[in-house]
Amino acid sequence: MKFLSPESPHTLEVSLGERSYPIHVGPGLLGDSRWLAPHLAGRQVMVVTNETVAPFYLETFKQGLPAGLEVRELVLPDGEATKSIESVALIWDALMEAGFNRRCTLVALGGGVIGDMVGYAAASYQRGVAFIQVPTTLLAQVDSSVGGKTGVNHPRGKNMIGAFWQPRVVLADTDTLATLPPRELSAGLAEVIKYGLIRDIDFLSWLEDALPALRGLDAAVLAMAIERSCRIKADIVAEDETEQGVRALLNLGHTFAHAIEAHQGYGHWLHGEAVGTGMLMAATLSNRLGWLSDAEVARTRAILAAADLPLAAPANMGVTDFLDLMRRDKKNLDDQLRLILLRRLGEACVHDATPPALLEALLVDFPRA
Ligand code: NAD
Ligand code: GLY
Repeated sequence: MKFLSPESPHTLEVSLGERSYPIHVGPGLLGDSRWLAPHLAGRQVMVVTNETVAPFYLETFKQGLPAGLEVRELVLPDGEATKSIESVALIWDALMEAGFNRRCTLVALGGGVIGDMVGYAAASYQRGVAFIQVPTTLLAQVDSSVGGKTGVNHPRGKNMIGAFWQPRVVLADTDTLATLPPRELSAGLAEVIKYGLIRDIDFLSWLEDALPALRGLDAAVLAMAIERSCRIKADIVAEDETEQGVRALLNLGHTFAHAIEAHQGYGHWLHGEAVGTGMLMAATLSNRLGWLSDAEVARTRAILAAADLPLAAPANMGVTDFLDLMRRDKKNLDDQLRLILLRRLGEACVHDATPPALLEALLVDFPRA
């Protein structure tokens, strides 16, 4: 892989015609107005963040804004439970109270929770205003800030309310990862590993060597992993923005993961942790369908273990718990369960015809902890 200089940010593009936008990856982006200023719609800017991120990065971010703007800030509580329509209403209220018009810009400064929620507020305020993603978790830098899926959870289902609404720019400042708790870093690594598994065997092999450096927050290696992940996601989104086909592959492991998250209560298992276990379940099922070899499943398990991700499903989740929750997944068409599985490492596929007995056997046998 090409080695990026840790000192200089790198830029790639999500190609969506007139809605194309750059993703800047690298250190020092937050306090530097060059990266953000060209993408502001007008003078009114509202920065939305949370109580954990604000003390670390809100001031630096504001220092990087050009002079002469009307800037408001809104600091929300932390946590997945905040990703609700009630929080979006708080953002609408703040925008209305500030008298913000259609040329305002909303900035999401935080992880995927803030990004998804602020994106949806931007999609819906006055039928859509400009929106900028400043992701501060690894998961948000490699996944949720790119591609325009925005939304909130409904009490009966995760991400059930939302819209496709693309940002004007994504600023993935790798310096922000220095304060990320190790568990959150591992959760982000699950999505990084996902890109290798679904689409890029060379990247997967590179990651097997790079994981210690990534977990040690080596700036150059992190920037390489983020850039490669974003490039894979950007290519897929450019091909299929609204998930009519290939974009579904980004959901490897997610049908199992969403069931785990919903069953455990949002926030108990991190999304990325559930995705890690879900990908191992998908790999194991792919093996039982005759696609992956035993050695390939072992390789999948080893790389997830090296990222310190959980390798067993929750002890209190039975087969019926999984099946009931998996049937609610948005990917399913009519009554048919749709899973993303692996034909081989580096090649994912959509599978609508998993024999129910095979799935049930997996759910019985898969380790619990
Ligand atoms: P998160 O936003 O909850 O952030 C994780 C934790 O890290 C939070 O406590 C947060 O306050 C804290 N944090 C954020 N940045 C920090 C920093 N730099 N230093 C210290 N702490 C920091 O979780 P996440 O993993 O970023 O995102 C998960 C969410 O993203 C889920 O709601 C998931 O559904 C969504 N998601 C969306 C997409 C998409 O395409 N839109 C894709 C994947 C996941
Ligand atoms: N995280 C899946 C997607 O963006 O499509």
